[in-house]
Amino acid sequence: MSSNLRFLFVGDIIGPAGLAVFLKHLPELKDKYSLDSIVVNGENSAKSGRGITEKIVHKLVAAGVDTITSGNHIWVNREIYDFLNRTDKLIRPANFPTECPGHGYAIYQVNGKFVAVMNLQGRGFMRETIDCPFKKAESLLTFLKTKTNTIFVDFHAETTAEKQALANFLDGKISGFFGTHTHVQTADERILPKGTAYITDLGCCGSIDSVIGMEKEVIINKFVTQLPAKFVPASIPPFAIDGVIVDIDSISGFAVKIERIKIIDNSAIE
Ligand SMILES: [Fe+2]
Ligand SMILES: [Fe+2]
Repeated sequence: MSSNLRFLFVGDIIGPAGLAVFLKHLPELKDKYSLDSIVVNGENSAKSGRGITEKIVHKLVAAGVDTITSGNHIWVNREIYDFLNRTDKLIRPANFPTECPGHGYAIYQVNGKFVAVMNLQGRGFMRETIDCPFKKAESLLTFLKTKTNTIFVDFHAETTAEKQALANFLDGKISGFFGTHTHVQTADERILPKGTAYITDLGCCGSIDSVIGMEKEVIINKFVTQLPAKFVPASIPPFAIDGVIVDIDSISGFAVKIERIKIIDNSAIE
């Protein structure tokens, strides 16, 4: 029997349209790729495109998602704070102060094997003053390694250099490292020299004819005027589901294969 496990990782789900498109295509993705486990970033899945609600978490879990990662936008919806303390399905960046609600990692079982997912946030061009993601990853890994060899990191960060640096810092110590937050998929998926699957950014799940998944005009106007603006998730087709499929040898914990995917849907969402 193969000891390989196959995972789907999907970048930030953007608003109701992104959520609907993801849920619409998930059954066929499960079938087509014989997925063992699914991890998505949900930090923009709320109606406003900022944050996530308990209801959305339940919907994603009911559809078969094992862990929902997040990022800087997780704190927008205060109603989620209490839920963050109670759930083991939704995680937030581990390098925020320990006083913050929620947990920075999740451990769950896939086909009888333990899997861990860690969420971290970058510091370059991000507003929050948070702990060093390198040091936090190192200390959390000491603990997670006692539980499993199959460990993933969602690194929610703005800059490519910070993502590449942390990925190479962790190469050989984790199974896969996936960037999120820019909402634009990069074409640099590969297995790093010591066995860790890598992509600088998974991309997002939402409307393509947009600026990072949001309505174009609002963002253009913000750049032109420099005035504060409320972003609105774009809801017109075509839509894309961006992510990677990763095969992991669950005994060694090393990556066997990484494949970048972009599912395009041209139909309108009700
Ligand atoms: Fe995001
Ligand atoms: Fe973000």
